[in-house]
Amino acid sequence: MTKKIFSGVQPTGNLHLGNYLGAIKNFVSLNNDDQNKCIFCVVDLHAITVKQDSKVLRNNIRETVATFVASGIDPSKSIIFNQSSVAAHSETAWILSCVARMGWLNRMTQFKEKAGKDKEKASVGLYSYPILMAADILLYDATHVPVGDDQKQHLELCRDIGQKFNNDFGIEDFFVIPEPLIQKEFSRIMSLKDGLKKMSKSDVSDLSRINLTDTKDQIINKIKKAKTDPLPMPSSLEELNERPEASNLIGIFSSLNNSSLEEIIKKFSGKNFSDFKNELSQLLVDKIDPISQEIKKLLNESSYLDQILSDGSQKAQEIASQKIKKIHKIVGF
Ligand code: AMP
Ligand code: TRP
Repeated sequence: MTKKIFSGVQPTGNLHLGNYLGAIKNFVSLNNDDQNKCIFCVVDLHAITVKQDSKVLRNNIRETVATFVASGIDPSKSIIFNQSSVAAHSETAWILSCVARMGWLNRMTQFKEKAGKDKEKASVGLYSYPILMAADILLYDATHVPVGDDQKQHLELCRDIGQKFNNDFGIEDFFVIPEPLIQKEFSRIMSLKDGLKKMSKSDVSDLSRINLTDTKDQIINKIKKAKTDPLPMPSSLEELNERPEASNLIGIFSSLNNSSLEEIIKKFSGKNFSDFKNELSQLLVDKIDPISQEIKKLLNESSYLDQILSDGSQKAQEIASQKIKKIHKIVGF
């Protein structure tokens, strides 16, 4: 069966190992399967839900494209474009915001985390952000959406919104109800400084994450300084439940190495963390350094990156304009 894949990444800088293992690595394998039709969107409209500097944003959009391509997404096979270049995203988001219910949005945990204590000061866009995400997905009749574990709730909301639109207007199959594609094991990569906190672009400590643009030395240094616990390496899966930092590092190893957690535990059981960390650094350098070098090379080719976006936008526009026409008709415009 042909899968229609859609996913988005915010151009907010510092793309990191969590983005890579939680999402981008999966994009690459979906892109490599000729049966799939893939669309990867640089979601710049989502980025402005928090304050951005316009120059920095423009660079980050290019850097996100460079990261996609450097990681192995082939722009001749997949559509790569930026969200703001197809106006139908904003328009559909408005229409869907009249379908979605306040009660549904009030349950979104990401808003609560991002808005923090002072919710009154958060932008309205940050609150309605998941509706725009639903518009992104539903406009392209996506059947599958590869995301990290933190986006699961937003995807469920997207399904609810699509379903309600179909019911409200009595057209059962108008919006395709998409399936999430979330890695089964280790779908959430945690901070290198705190195994209970998600690895994130916005963490003030750069030592908390491996950026996809880090050099070999930075990677080695960050793993050396990564938090562990005083015990030797775990010898069973059960131990991982109580040892978040060990669990995270073993998870990263197993994801990068495409091996099971059990295999990694067996290999390092009872050893010192330093032996494990040496091998983990080597593995990270082998996987991430070539990507980092390629990103830096591509960033010097801004006209190539802009061309990818403009070709992608044109193709996305063709698909989205058909769907928005139908939406207008259904709604009664
Ligand atoms: P964002 O950078 O927030 O636009 O996220 C882009 C993609 O990376 C989404 O699919 C997220 O779910 C995924 N992602 C972000 N941070 C992590 C993390 N720490 N672990 C796993 N996946 C992540
Ligand atoms: N909200 C997602 C994130 O922060 C990014 C995103 C926007 C997205 N639109 C999307 C992901 C559509 C998948 C599909 O990670």
